Amino acid sequence: MGFVSVLAMAHKLVQDRVQPGDCAVDATVGNGIDTSVLCNLTGPKGAVFGFDVQETALQTAEQRVRRECGSAAQSLKLILASHEHMLQHLPAVYHGQAAAVMFNLGYLPNADSEETQRIITEPQSTLTALQASLTVLRPRGVLTIVVYPGHAGGAEEAEAVLAWAAQLPSATGQAMTYRMVQKPSAPYLIAVERR
Ligand SMILES: C[S@@+](CC[C@H](N)C(=O)[O-])C[C@H]1O[C@@H](n2cnc3c(N)ncnc32)[C@H](O)[C@@H]1O
Repeated sequence: MGFVSVLAMAHKLVQDRVQPGDCAVDATVGNGIDTSVLCNLTGPKGAVFGFDVQETALQTAEQRVRRECGSAAQSLKLILASHEHMLQHLPAVYHGQAAAVMFNLGYLPNADSEETQRIITEPQSTLTALQASLTVLRPRGVLTIVVYPGHAGGAEEAEAVLAWAAQLPSATGQAMTYRMVQKPSAPYLIAVERR
């Protein structure tokens, strides 16, 4: 049968915790797969904030959410900005309220140009954004981070995220990994449940 994929596990952690009417954040919108999952969970009365530094990613994601989420698409606010500025873009009323914040690091998959694939998440801004996520999450809200050690720079970013999660005080949250240990260069999941 096999274990569920890393992406499916990230979705499961989110599905277990996000309810209709909740607030959630997709910190790396990309093609909008996670954004669509979040919109369908929060529903038309919820609020989903999605960040990406590429306009094309936001356009693709918007079309996907319109296609897949019906009236829940109205809950989505897409923001063309780096996730490290999450706190400035999220209205203060949502700080400490998000049920989930999702990161899927690396580059935009299936991008049609090499230039687009060169735009990757960077350790320093990722760590700033992860720290901001702790302010955004509500108690028992979940932070999911899919890391990609396989591409250039990805291993260093994965190590930095793992070290960040490992040093979190237990009063801040509980951190775990979900990883295929026979495949060290395969993507893996780091998740934090906020206390
Ligand atoms: C692996 S893709 C995300 C895939 C996406 N979650 C999906 O479901 O299709 C990574 C995305 O992160 C974006 N990105 C890179 N640096 C970023 C930053 N500083 N802030 C926000 N997004 C960033 C890239 O443009 C790319 O679209």
